[in-house]
Amino acid sequence: MQTATTVLPLGERKAWKALQSHFEQISPKHLKDLFAADPTRGERYTAEAAGIFLDYSKNRVDDETLKLLVELAEESGVRAKIEAMFTGAKINITEGRAVLHVALRAPKSESILVDGEDVVPAVHEVLEKMGGFADKIRSGEWKGFTGKKIKNVVNIGIGGSDLGPVMAYEALKHYSQRDLTFRFVSNVDGSDFAEAVHDLNADETVFLVASKTFTTQETMTNAHSARDWTLASLKDEKAIASHFVAISTNAQAVGKFGIDTANMFGFWDWVGGRYSMDSAIGLSTMIAIGPKNFESLLAGFHEMDVHFRTAPFEKNLPVLMGLLSVWYTDFFDAQTVAILPYENYLKRFPAYLQQLTMESNGKHVTLDGTHVDYETGPVYWGEPGTNGQHSFYQLIHQGTRLIPADFIGFYKTLNPLGRHHDMLMANVFAQSEALAFGKTAEQVRAEGVAEALVPHKVFEGNRPSNTILTEVLTPNVLGKLVALYEHVVFTQGAVWNIDSFDQWGVELGKVLATKILGELESVEAPAGAHDSSTNSLIAKYRANK
Ligand code: F6P
Repeated sequence: MQTATTVLPLGERKAWKALQSHFEQISPKHLKDLFAADPTRGERYTAEAAGIFLDYSKNRVDDETLKLLVELAEESGVRAKIEAMFTGAKINITEGRAVLHVALRAPKSESILVDGEDVVPAVHEVLEKMGGFADKIRSGEWKGFTGKKIKNVVNIGIGGSDLGPVMAYEALKHYSQRDLTFRFVSNVDGSDFAEAVHDLNADETVFLVASKTFTTQETMTNAHSARDWTLASLKDEKAIASHFVAISTNAQAVGKFGIDTANMFGFWDWVGGRYSMDSAIGLSTMIAIGPKNFESLLAGFHEMDVHFRTAPFEKNLPVLMGLLSVWYTDFFDAQTVAILPYENYLKRFPAYLQQLTMESNGKHVTLDGTHVDYETGPVYWGEPGTNGQHSFYQLIHQGTRLIPADFIGFYKTLNPLGRHHDMLMANVFAQSEALAFGKTAEQVRAEGVAEALVPHKVFEGNRPSNTILTEVLTPNVLGKLVALYEHVVFTQGAVWNIDSFDQWGVELGKVLATKILGELESVEAPAGAHDSSTNSLIAKYRANK
């Protein structure tokens, strides 16, 4: 079996070299010509799985490109790496951990071993405990300290302990219990907490303190402020038990904070923070939409997992999308990927994908520590359509950069309202058509445009995009979409031969911030141990705070 360590350096792989010479031939070609040469392209370059349809025909590829990209995946050991993940191998090598978010949605009948122990029963045990708690909050059975029903749920967490919960809450609001209010506090900026609770009563509010490590400075600070806020109103330490639950892997720290570990929902070190929205970190989601809908979300994840693990690469949605983004990143020098969901409920989806993709694949060394000599993770960003069209699409259409885009659309809306949905979807199809085919100077002139304006009105086109279409935004579909991108990230990381599951790049700033905090708060002026810029910024802040 080919393993991470036996894979040749990227530049030495046969398919990579073949792609380099193939790039010379295909890069000058216009999508217009590729479409003209093959009238069936729009049907051929599509794939569908688990009810998710992908049209990748508007990409700068031909049959040869796709063949070589698939060969690259094979040669990069993607198949073996997928199996290694699904079978609990410790593929997060810098932390010596298995990477098993796929176990979080594995049916009860499956068994996945980590260090000889089947982790699936424990997953279902936690899900049941979450279900019991969610039902109690939703039904009003769980009472606050003064005997009142809980009306407000505040999730305190950051990064993966926030972005998944917020994104899912927004995405699935349609399915949420509307007499419950949900708030999400993440930033250490006190305004975040202050605004989240300003209109809430402590005796009707439960805090979910979500932190894998239970040591994250922002989360612990916010949790302590929440504790103070609760005690200021309820004036009894015993109130904490009714108003605080913890979601963590660190029972000791939870106990130390003062939360009864009976009110703790656990998960495991083999769940990465950015891959944790379907673990106990999803408790707020489960309270909002109910355990049955949460089950359906997990089933959606699982369906995409099975597809990723079993489908041939030519028809494998995450593999195809992952390979296409490698193609643009490393051959076309594209720096970013735009995520453009035409579904207002998915407004936090691009922000969620930012952590998933950029914390995973923002890496500069390969698994064995060698500096890469190629580009890795692109910048992911985006906004829901059609809003983006009236702000940044100008640059995608006529700017000087190549920005591959993913359009995400739905056949049906959750809120039928006159012609709105057809109008929304007309924009999806119009944008990807305009990006790909553009408008020539001749076409502009034929409209009678004054010659001086012609260059300004030309659209070069040849700008690539994927279009993803699916039925309607349900919990199940959301699970499929998130799993799709998780596995896109996996595919990219496998080709680049990097560790997509650690995040050492966040550490230095954390350490420096702790040191600087002491210097901002000390009575005596700090010794000036930094560079001249940092020293004077600290001095200026101290003088003016
Ligand atoms: O600082 C980065 C990070 O470790 C993320 O990977 C993680 O999602 C976030 O912080 C929050 O961590 P925790 O859940 O342990 O509080």
